[in-house]
Amino acid sequence: MIHKTLKPFPEDFLWGASTSAYQVEGANLEDGKGPSCQDVKKVPEGTSELDVCADQYHRYKEDIALMAEMGFKVYRFSISWSRIIPEGTGAVNPKGIEYYNNVINECLAHNIIPLVTMFHFDMPAALDKRGSWSNPESVDWFLNFAKVMFENYGDRVKYWLTINEQNMLTLVGPVIGTLTLPEGTTNVLKETYQQNHHMLVAQAKAMALCHQMLPDAKIGPAPNISLVYPASCKPEDIIAAQNYNAIRNWLYLDMAVFGKYNNIVWSYLEEHDAVPTFAPGDAEALANGHPDFIGFNYYNTATCQASDGTEKADPGADQQTARGDAGFYRGYRNPNLTVTEFGWEIDPIGFRATMREMYSRYRLPMIVTENGLGAYDTLEDGRVHDPYRIDYLAKHIEQIRLAITDGVEMMGYCPWSAIDLISTHEGMKKRYGFIYVDREEFDLKTLDRYRKDSFYWYKKVIASNGEDLSPDFKVE
Ligand code: BG6
Repeated sequence: MIHKTLKPFPEDFLWGASTSAYQVEGANLEDGKGPSCQDVKKVPEGTSELDVCADQYHRYKEDIALMAEMGFKVYRFSISWSRIIPEGTGAVNPKGIEYYNNVINECLAHNIIPLVTMFHFDMPAALDKRGSWSNPESVDWFLNFAKVMFENYGDRVKYWLTINEQNMLTLVGPVIGTLTLPEGTTNVLKETYQQNHHMLVAQAKAMALCHQMLPDAKIGPAPNISLVYPASCKPEDIIAAQNYNAIRNWLYLDMAVFGKYNNIVWSYLEEHDAVPTFAPGDAEALANGHPDFIGFNYYNTATCQASDGTEKADPGADQQTARGDAGFYRGYRNPNLTVTEFGWEIDPIGFRATMREMYSRYRLPMIVTENGLGAYDTLEDGRVHDPYRIDYLAKHIEQIRLAITDGVEMMGYCPWSAIDLISTHEGMKKRYGFIYVDREEFDLKTLDRYRKDSFYWYKKVIASNGEDLSPDFKVE
Protein backbone atom coordinates (compact mmCIF):
# COMPACT_ATOMS: atom_id res chain seq x y z
CA MET A 1 0.00 0.00 0.00
CA ILE A 2 1.39 3.42 -0.92
CA HIS A 3 0.27 5.99 1.65
CA LYS A 4 -0.23 9.66 0.71
CA THR A 5 0.50 10.80 4.26
CA LEU A 6 2.49 9.05 6.93
CA LYS A 7 1.37 8.91 10.55
CA PRO A 8 3.98 10.21 13.01
CA PHE A 9 5.67 8.00 15.59
CA PRO A 10 3.69 8.14 18.85
CA GLU A 11 4.85 10.86 21.29
CA ASP A 12 5.86 8.27 23.87
CA PHE A 13 7.61 5.95 21.39
CA LEU A 14 10.41 4.10 23.17
CA TRP A 15 13.66 4.72 21.31
CA GLY A 16 16.64 2.84 22.69
CA ALA A 17 18.82 -0.20 22.05
CA SER A 18 19.64 -3.65 23.44
CA THR A 19 22.41 -5.80 24.88
CA SER A 20 22.60 -9.10 26.75
CA ALA A 21 24.51 -9.89 29.93
CA TYR A 22 26.82 -12.63 28.71
CA GLN A 23 27.76 -10.69 25.58
CA VAL A 24 28.46 -7.29 27.16
CA GLU A 25 29.25 -7.50 30.87
CA GLY A 26 32.44 -9.54 31.21
CA ALA A 27 33.43 -10.10 34.88
CA ASN A 28 32.16 -13.60 34.26
CA LEU A 29 33.32 -15.06 37.55
CA GLU A 30 33.67 -11.87 39.57
CA ASP A 31 31.92 -10.93 42.82
CA GLY A 32 30.44 -14.36 43.35
CA LYS A 33 28.99 -14.92 39.88
CA GLY A 34 28.70 -18.57 38.89
CA PRO A 35 29.62 -19.69 35.36
CA SER A 36 26.92 -19.97 32.72
CA CYS A 37 26.77 -22.42 29.83
CA GLN A 38 28.28 -19.64 27.70
CA ASP A 39 31.32 -19.13 29.94
CA VAL A 40 31.97 -22.83 29.87
CA LYS A 41 31.64 -22.96 26.09
CA LYS A 42 33.74 -19.86 25.25
CA VAL A 43 33.10 -17.96 22.03
CA PRO A 44 34.86 -18.44 19.74
CA GLU A 45 36.32 -21.76 20.75
CA GLY A 46 39.49 -21.56 22.80
CA THR A 47 39.44 -17.86 23.75
CA SER A 48 38.61 -16.24 27.03
CA GLU A 49 36.92 -13.18 25.57
CA LEU A 50 33.74 -13.74 27.56
CA ASP A 51 35.77 -12.97 30.67
CA VAL A 52 35.83 -9.32 29.60
CA CYS A 53 33.41 -8.73 26.69
CA ALA A 54 32.82 -4.96 26.59
CA ASP A 55 33.57 -4.80 30.34
CA GLN A 56 30.20 -3.21 31.02
CA TYR A 57 30.24 -4.66 34.53
CA HIS A 58 32.88 -2.08 35.41
CA ARG A 59 31.80 0.65 33.01
CA TYR A 60 28.00 0.66 33.16
CA LYS A 61 27.90 4.27 34.36
CA GLU A 62 29.87 5.51 31.38
CA ASP A 63 27.80 3.35 29.00
CA ILE A 64 24.46 4.51 30.36
CA ALA A 65 25.64 8.14 30.26
CA LEU A 66 26.44 7.66 26.55
CA MET A 67 23.00 6.13 25.97
CA ALA A 68 21.47 9.15 27.72
CA GLU A 69 23.52 11.42 25.47
CA MET A 70 21.93 9.70 22.46
CA GLY A 71 18.55 10.45 24.05
CA PHE A 72 17.55 6.85 24.86
CA LYS A 73 14.10 6.46 26.38
CA VAL A 74 14.67 2.77 27.08
CA TYR A 75 17.60 0.37 27.54
CA ARG A 76 17.00 -3.32 27.01
CA PHE A 77 19.50 -5.47 28.91
CA SER A 78 19.36 -8.96 30.39
CA ILE A 79 19.96 -10.21 33.91
CA SER A 80 22.52 -12.97 34.22
CA TRP A 81 20.85 -15.79 36.16
CA SER A 82 24.17 -17.09 37.53
CA ARG A 83 25.22 -13.62 38.68
CA ILE A 84 22.28 -13.39 41.05
CA ILE A 85 21.85 -17.13 41.80
CA PRO A 86 25.31 -18.65 41.17
CA GLU A 87 24.16 -22.27 41.31
CA GLY A 88 20.91 -21.50 39.47
CA THR A 89 18.85 -22.49 42.52
CA GLY A 90 19.44 -21.83 46.20
CA ALA A 91 21.60 -19.03 47.60
CA VAL A 92 21.21 -15.54 46.17
CA ASN A 93 24.40 -13.54 45.58
CA PRO A 94 24.04 -10.07 47.20
CA LYS A 95 26.75 -8.59 44.97
CA GLY A 96 24.85 -9.75 41.90
CA ILE A 97 21.62 -8.21 43.19
CA GLU A 98 23.50 -5.01 43.89
CA TYR A 99 24.97 -4.84 40.38
CA TYR A 100 21.56 -4.83 38.68
CA ASN A 101 20.20 -2.43 41.30
CA ASN A 102 22.98 -0.08 40.26
CA VAL A 103 22.27 -0.52 36.55
CA ILE A 104 18.53 0.03 37.02
CA ASN A 105 19.07 3.08 39.24
CA GLU A 106 21.58 4.54 36.82
CA CYS A 107 19.07 4.17 33.96
CA LEU A 108 16.32 5.81 36.00
CA ALA A 109 18.63 8.66 37.04
CA HIS A 110 18.97 9.40 33.30
CA ASN A 111 15.22 8.98 32.65
CA ILE A 112 15.86 5.77 30.75
CA ILE A 113 13.27 3.03 31.23
CA PRO A 114 14.87 -0.36 31.98
CA LEU A 115 13.47 -3.14 29.79
CA VAL A 116 14.73 -6.35 31.36
CA THR A 117 15.18 -9.66 29.54
CA MET A 118 14.94 -12.42 32.12
CA PHE A 119 16.85 -15.06 30.14
CA HIS A 120 19.19 -14.50 27.21
CA PHE A 121 21.01 -17.71 26.25
CA ASP A 122 22.96 -18.07 29.53
CA MET A 123 21.74 -21.01 31.58
CA PRO A 124 23.79 -21.33 34.80
CA ALA A 125 26.43 -24.03 34.24
CA ALA A 126 25.30 -25.77 37.45
CA LEU A 127 21.83 -26.24 35.93
CA ASP A 128 23.27 -27.21 32.60
CA LYS A 129 24.86 -30.13 34.42
CA ARG A 130 21.44 -31.05 35.78
CA GLY A 131 20.04 -31.25 32.25
CA SER A 132 19.17 -27.60 31.55
CA TRP A 133 15.72 -27.27 29.93
CA SER A 134 15.50 -31.04 29.42
CA ASN A 135 14.89 -31.42 33.14
CA PRO A 136 11.18 -30.92 33.97
CA GLU A 137 12.35 -29.12 37.14
CA SER A 138 13.66 -26.33 34.90
CA VAL A 139 10.16 -24.79 35.01
CA ASP A 140 10.45 -24.33 38.78
CA TRP A 141 14.08 -23.20 38.57
CA PHE A 142 13.06 -20.44 36.18
CA LEU A 143 10.05 -19.47 38.24
CA ASN A 144 12.19 -19.11 41.34
CA PHE A 145 14.65 -16.95 39.38
CA ALA A 146 11.70 -14.84 38.16
CA LYS A 147 10.45 -14.42 41.73
CA VAL A 148 13.88 -13.24 42.92
CA MET A 149 13.97 -10.67 40.10
CA PHE A 150 10.40 -9.46 40.71
CA GLU A 151 11.05 -9.14 44.46
CA ASN A 152 14.28 -7.22 44.05
CA TYR A 153 13.63 -5.07 41.01
CA GLY A 154 9.84 -5.02 40.55
CA ASP A 155 9.49 -1.69 42.37
CA ARG A 156 11.42 -0.01 39.52
CA VAL A 157 11.28 -2.30 36.49
CA LYS A 158 7.93 -1.95 34.72
CA TYR A 159 8.74 -3.79 31.48
CA TRP A 160 9.89 -7.41 31.38
CA LEU A 161 10.75 -9.82 28.57
CA THR A 162 10.71 -13.54 29.32
CA ILE A 163 13.01 -15.68 27.15
CA ASN A 164 15.09 -14.20 24.35
CA GLU A 165 14.62 -16.00 21.03
CA GLN A 166 13.19 -19.22 22.37
CA ASN A 167 12.55 -20.19 18.75
CA MET A 168 16.24 -19.91 17.91
CA LEU A 169 17.16 -21.94 21.02
CA THR A 170 14.88 -24.64 19.65
CA LEU A 171 15.77 -24.40 15.97
CA VAL A 172 19.52 -23.72 16.14
CA GLY A 173 20.50 -24.41 19.78
CA PRO A 174 23.82 -26.04 18.77
CA VAL A 175 24.85 -22.87 16.85
CA ILE A 176 24.14 -20.69 19.90
CA GLY A 177 25.68 -23.27 22.21
CA THR A 178 22.63 -23.91 24.31
CA LEU A 179 21.24 -27.33 23.45
CA THR A 180 21.96 -29.93 26.13
CA LEU A 181 21.07 -33.49 25.10
CA PRO A 182 20.80 -36.05 27.89
CA GLU A 183 22.89 -39.16 27.39
CA GLY A 184 21.13 -41.79 25.34
CA THR A 185 18.88 -39.34 23.45
CA THR A 186 17.67 -41.16 20.35
CA ASN A 187 14.97 -38.85 19.01
CA VAL A 188 16.68 -35.43 19.01
CA LEU A 189 13.60 -33.66 17.66
CA LYS A 190 11.40 -35.06 20.42
CA GLU A 191 13.94 -34.10 23.07
CA THR A 192 14.33 -30.60 21.62
CA TYR A 193 10.57 -30.00 21.57
CA GLN A 194 10.24 -31.35 25.09
CA GLN A 195 12.76 -28.73 26.19
CA ASN A 196 10.85 -26.16 24.19
CA HIS A 197 7.68 -27.21 26.01
CA HIS A 198 9.34 -26.67 29.38
CA MET A 199 10.36 -23.18 28.28
CA LEU A 200 6.82 -22.43 27.12
CA VAL A 201 5.36 -23.52 30.45
CA ALA A 202 8.07 -21.60 32.35
CA GLN A 203 7.27 -18.49 30.32
CA ALA A 204 3.51 -18.78 30.88
CA LYS A 205 3.98 -19.25 34.63
CA ALA A 206 6.42 -16.32 34.79
CA MET A 207 3.91 -14.06 33.02
CA ALA A 208 1.18 -15.07 35.48
CA LEU A 209 3.53 -14.56 38.44
CA CYS A 210 4.50 -11.13 37.17
CA HIS A 211 0.85 -10.08 37.00
CA GLN A 212 0.22 -11.45 40.47
CA MET A 213 3.28 -9.87 42.13
CA LEU A 214 3.56 -6.66 40.09
CA PRO A 215 0.12 -5.54 38.95
CA ASP A 216 1.51 -2.38 37.32
CA ALA A 217 4.22 -4.14 35.33
CA LYS A 218 3.99 -5.36 31.74
CA ILE A 219 5.54 -8.53 30.43
CA GLY A 220 5.92 -10.17 27.04
CA PRO A 221 7.88 -12.76 25.05
CA ALA A 222 10.90 -11.91 22.85
CA PRO A 223 11.12 -14.41 19.99
CA ASN A 224 12.91 -13.76 16.70
CA ILE A 225 10.08 -13.26 14.23
CA SER A 226 10.49 -12.86 10.52
CA LEU A 227 8.04 -13.64 7.83
CA VAL A 228 8.71 -16.64 5.60
CA TYR A 229 8.13 -16.04 1.89
CA PRO A 230 7.27 -18.73 -0.65
CA ALA A 231 9.95 -19.05 -3.34
CA SER A 232 7.25 -18.77 -6.03
CA CYS A 233 3.49 -18.65 -6.44
CA LYS A 234 3.42 -22.43 -6.91
CA PRO A 235 0.79 -23.72 -4.47
CA GLU A 236 3.31 -26.25 -3.13
CA ASP A 237 5.69 -23.43 -2.25
CA ILE A 238 2.89 -21.60 -0.41
CA ILE A 239 2.29 -24.67 1.73
CA ALA A 240 6.04 -24.94 2.42
CA ALA A 241 6.17 -21.28 3.51
CA GLN A 242 3.15 -21.79 5.74
CA ASN A 243 4.87 -24.80 7.27
CA TYR A 244 8.03 -22.92 8.11
CA ASN A 245 6.10 -19.83 9.26
CA ALA A 246 4.31 -22.06 11.73
CA ILE A 247 7.44 -23.81 12.95
CA ARG A 248 9.66 -20.72 13.05
CA ASN A 249 7.22 -18.03 14.16
CA TRP A 250 3.63 -18.83 15.02
CA LEU A 251 4.26 -21.73 17.39
CA TYR A 252 5.86 -19.30 19.84
CA LEU A 253 3.38 -16.48 19.56
CA ASP A 254 0.27 -18.69 19.37
CA MET A 255 1.43 -20.26 22.59
CA ALA A 256 2.32 -16.99 24.33
CA VAL A 257 -0.91 -15.27 23.31
CA PHE A 258 -3.51 -18.06 22.97
CA GLY A 259 -1.93 -20.68 25.24
CA LYS A 260 -2.30 -23.32 22.51
CA TYR A 261 0.03 -25.26 20.25
CA ASN A 262 -0.07 -24.22 16.63
CA ASN A 263 -1.94 -26.98 14.76
CA ILE A 264 0.51 -27.22 11.84
CA VAL A 265 3.43 -27.65 14.22
CA TRP A 266 1.55 -30.17 16.29
CA SER A 267 0.87 -32.30 13.24
CA TYR A 268 4.54 -31.97 12.19
CA LEU A 269 5.59 -33.21 15.64
CA GLU A 270 3.13 -36.09 15.42
CA GLU A 271 4.67 -37.08 12.05
CA HIS A 272 8.10 -37.23 13.70
CA ASP A 273 6.94 -38.97 16.86
CA ALA A 274 8.06 -35.85 18.71
CA VAL A 275 5.02 -34.43 20.52
CA PRO A 276 5.96 -33.17 23.98
CA THR A 277 4.66 -34.77 27.14
CA PHE A 278 2.43 -32.53 29.25
CA ALA A 279 2.96 -32.66 33.03
CA PRO A 280 -0.21 -32.35 35.14
CA GLY A 281 -1.26 -28.68 35.19
CA ASP A 282 0.71 -27.68 32.06
CA ALA A 283 -2.37 -27.07 29.91
CA GLU A 284 -3.88 -24.76 32.57
CA ALA A 285 -0.57 -22.96 33.06
CA LEU A 286 -0.24 -22.36 29.33
CA ALA A 287 -3.79 -21.03 29.14
CA ASN A 288 -3.23 -18.72 32.12
CA GLY A 289 -0.14 -16.85 30.92
CA HIS A 290 -1.00 -13.68 29.05
CA PRO A 291 1.47 -11.20 27.57
CA ASP A 292 0.76 -7.46 27.72
CA PHE A 293 2.79 -6.81 24.59
CA ILE A 294 4.99 -8.65 22.13
CA GLY A 295 8.72 -8.02 21.96
CA PHE A 296 10.38 -9.39 18.86
CA ASN A 297 13.79 -9.46 17.20
CA TYR A 298 13.95 -8.97 13.45
CA TYR A 299 17.00 -9.29 11.22
CA ASN A 300 15.63 -10.58 7.92
CA THR A 301 13.04 -12.74 6.25
CA ALA A 302 13.40 -16.35 5.17
CA THR A 303 12.27 -17.97 1.94
CA CYS A 304 11.13 -21.54 1.38
CA GLN A 305 10.21 -23.85 -1.42
CA ALA A 306 8.45 -27.18 -1.42
CA SER A 307 10.44 -30.17 -0.29
CA ASP A 308 10.29 -33.40 -2.25
CA GLY A 309 11.03 -35.27 0.95
CA THR A 310 14.53 -36.42 -0.01
CA GLU A 311 16.91 -33.53 0.67
CA LYS A 312 18.92 -33.17 3.88
CA ALA A 313 18.68 -30.29 6.36
CA ASP A 314 21.51 -27.76 6.12
CA PRO A 315 23.54 -28.32 9.31
CA GLY A 316 25.52 -25.10 8.75
CA ALA A 317 22.44 -22.85 8.91
CA ASP A 318 22.74 -19.97 11.38
CA GLN A 319 20.02 -18.10 13.27
CA GLN A 320 18.62 -16.54 10.12
CA THR A 321 18.72 -19.27 7.51
CA ALA A 322 16.02 -21.82 6.84
CA ARG A 323 17.62 -25.20 7.46
CA GLY A 324 14.99 -27.22 5.64
CA ASP A 325 13.14 -30.28 6.80
CA ALA A 326 12.49 -33.10 4.37
CA GLY A 327 8.86 -33.29 3.30
CA PHE A 328 8.01 -30.07 5.08
CA TYR A 329 9.98 -27.15 3.65
CA ARG A 330 13.26 -26.46 1.94
CA GLY A 331 15.47 -23.37 2.38
CA TYR A 332 15.84 -21.03 -0.60
CA ARG A 333 18.15 -18.05 -1.17
CA ASN A 334 15.98 -15.06 -2.08
CA PRO A 335 17.51 -13.56 -5.27
CA ASN A 336 15.85 -10.20 -4.63
CA LEU A 337 17.82 -9.38 -1.51
CA THR A 338 21.39 -8.27 -0.85
CA VAL A 339 23.36 -9.68 2.09
CA THR A 340 25.57 -8.27 4.85
CA GLU A 341 29.31 -8.93 5.02
CA PHE A 342 28.38 -11.87 7.21
CA GLY A 343 25.92 -13.29 4.69
CA TRP A 344 22.65 -12.27 6.38
CA GLU A 345 19.96 -11.12 3.95
CA ILE A 346 18.84 -7.48 4.24
CA ASP A 347 15.10 -6.95 3.90
CA PRO A 348 13.59 -3.74 5.31
CA ILE A 349 10.29 -4.21 3.46
CA GLY A 350 10.05 -7.68 4.96
CA PHE A 351 10.19 -5.92 8.34
CA ARG A 352 6.97 -4.07 7.53
CA ALA A 353 5.40 -7.25 6.19
CA THR A 354 6.36 -9.03 9.41
CA MET A 355 4.89 -6.30 11.65
CA ARG A 356 1.65 -6.22 9.64
CA GLU A 357 1.27 -9.99 9.78
CA MET A 358 2.04 -10.19 13.51
CA TYR A 359 -0.37 -7.43 14.42
CA SER A 360 -3.21 -8.83 12.39
CA ARG A 361 -2.73 -12.21 14.06
CA TYR A 362 -2.29 -11.08 17.68
CA ARG A 363 -3.57 -7.49 18.08
CA LEU A 364 -1.15 -6.64 20.87
CA PRO A 365 1.20 -3.64 21.07
CA MET A 366 4.68 -4.54 19.84
CA ILE A 367 8.23 -3.44 20.53
CA VAL A 368 11.23 -4.29 18.38
CA THR A 369 13.76 -5.76 20.79
CA GLU A 370 16.53 -6.35 18.22
CA ASN A 371 17.36 -5.36 14.64
CA GLY A 372 20.72 -4.29 13.29
CA LEU A 373 23.74 -4.78 11.12
CA GLY A 374 26.80 -6.81 12.09
CA ALA A 375 29.88 -5.39 10.36
CA TYR A 376 33.67 -5.05 10.52
CA ASP A 377 34.01 -1.50 11.93
CA THR A 378 37.35 0.24 12.12
CA LEU A 379 38.57 2.99 14.38
CA GLU A 380 40.62 5.64 12.55
CA ASP A 381 41.86 8.74 14.34
CA GLY A 382 39.23 8.39 17.01
CA ARG A 383 36.33 8.06 14.55
CA VAL A 384 34.29 5.16 13.22
CA HIS A 385 32.57 5.86 9.92
CA ASP A 386 29.68 3.42 9.55
CA PRO A 387 27.41 4.81 6.79
CA TYR A 388 26.35 1.21 6.02
CA ARG A 389 24.79 0.95 9.50
CA ILE A 390 23.06 4.31 9.18
CA ASP A 391 21.63 3.23 5.84
CA TYR A 392 20.46 -0.12 7.24
CA LEU A 393 18.81 1.43 10.32
CA ALA A 394 17.20 4.30 8.39
CA LYS A 395 15.59 1.86 5.97
CA HIS A 396 14.21 -0.25 8.81
CA ILE A 397 12.93 2.71 10.84
CA GLU A 398 11.18 3.98 7.71
CA GLN A 399 9.32 0.67 7.55
CA ILE A 400 8.20 0.96 11.18
CA ARG A 401 6.63 4.28 10.29
CA LEU A 402 4.89 2.69 7.33
CA ALA A 403 3.64 -0.10 9.58
CA ILE A 404 2.33 2.48 12.06
CA THR A 405 0.53 4.15 9.17
CA ASP A 406 -0.90 0.72 8.30
CA GLY A 407 -2.44 0.73 11.80
CA VAL A 408 0.09 -1.45 13.59
CA GLU A 409 0.49 -0.52 17.27
CA MET A 410 4.25 -0.05 17.78
CA MET A 411 5.61 0.86 21.21
CA GLY A 412 9.31 1.19 20.53
CA TYR A 413 12.51 0.29 18.76
CA CYS A 414 15.57 -1.23 20.41
CA PRO A 415 18.13 -2.13 17.76
CA TRP A 416 21.05 -4.46 18.40
CA SER A 417 23.17 -3.22 19.94
CA ALA A 418 23.64 -0.23 22.19
CA ILE A 419 27.38 -0.88 22.32
CA ASP A 420 29.81 -3.31 20.64
CA LEU A 421 29.71 -6.73 22.26
CA ILE A 422 30.62 -10.35 21.60
CA SER A 423 28.56 -11.95 18.84
CA THR A 424 26.89 -15.27 19.59
CA HIS A 425 29.44 -17.23 17.59
CA GLU A 426 31.52 -14.76 15.59
CA GLY A 427 33.40 -13.03 18.38
CA MET A 428 34.23 -9.35 18.63
CA LYS A 429 34.99 -8.83 14.96
CA LYS A 430 31.28 -8.70 14.13
CA ARG A 431 30.18 -5.39 15.63
CA TYR A 432 26.67 -3.97 15.97
CA GLY A 433 26.94 -1.04 18.40
CA PHE A 434 26.45 2.72 18.23
CA ILE A 435 29.36 2.89 20.67
CA TYR A 436 32.70 1.45 19.58
CA VAL A 437 34.70 -0.52 22.14
CA ASP A 438 38.45 -0.36 21.66
CA ARG A 439 39.44 -4.00 21.72
CA GLU A 440 40.12 -6.73 19.21
CA GLU A 441 39.33 -10.39 19.27
CA PHE A 442 42.48 -11.40 21.15
CA ASP A 443 43.84 -8.03 22.27
CA LEU A 444 41.95 -6.18 24.99
CA LYS A 445 43.64 -2.84 24.19
CA THR A 446 42.15 0.11 26.17
CA LEU A 447 38.46 -0.88 26.16
CA ASP A 448 37.76 2.84 25.76
CA ARG A 449 34.44 3.93 24.26
CA TYR A 450 34.14 5.95 21.01
CA ARG A 451 31.02 7.44 19.45
CA LYS A 452 30.49 6.01 15.94
CA ASP A 453 28.93 8.16 13.21
CA SER A 454 25.74 6.14 13.77
CA PHE A 455 25.77 7.38 17.39
CA TYR A 456 25.39 11.00 16.28
CA TRP A 457 22.90 10.02 13.61
CA TYR A 458 20.69 8.02 16.01
CA LYS A 459 20.78 10.92 18.46
CA LYS A 460 19.31 13.14 15.74
CA VAL A 461 16.71 10.52 14.83
CA ILE A 462 15.55 10.28 18.44
CA ALA A 463 15.52 14.06 18.89
CA SER A 464 13.26 14.37 15.84
CA ASN A 465 11.08 11.45 17.05
CA GLY A 466 11.88 9.56 13.86
CA GLU A 467 11.02 12.42 11.47
CA ASP A 468 14.57 13.03 10.26
CA LEU A 469 16.20 9.87 8.89
CA SER A 470 18.50 11.64 6.43
CA PRO A 471 22.10 10.39 6.55
CA ASP A 472 23.57 13.67 7.76
CA PHE A 473 24.37 14.33 11.43
CA LYS A 474 26.28 16.78 13.61
CA VAL A 475 29.39 15.73 15.52
CA GLU A 476 29.24 17.44 18.91
C1 BG6 B 1 20.12 -12.49 18.17
C2 BG6 B 1 20.52 -12.65 19.59
O1 BG6 B 1 19.93 -13.77 17.65
O2 BG6 B 1 21.02 -11.96 17.26
C3 BG6 B 1 21.75 -11.87 20.02
O3 BG6 B 1 19.45 -12.39 20.47
C4 BG6 B 1 22.77 -11.90 18.90
O4 BG6 B 1 22.24 -12.41 21.21
C5 BG6 B 1 22.14 -11.23 17.68
O5 BG6 B 1 24.01 -11.34 19.22
C6 BG6 B 1 23.10 -11.16 16.49
O6 BG6 B 1 23.57 -12.44 16.20
P1 BG6 B 1 25.13 -12.71 16.04
O7 BG6 B 1 25.25 -14.16 15.80
O8 BG6 B 1 25.57 -11.89 14.89
O9 BG6 B 1 25.76 -12.28 17.33
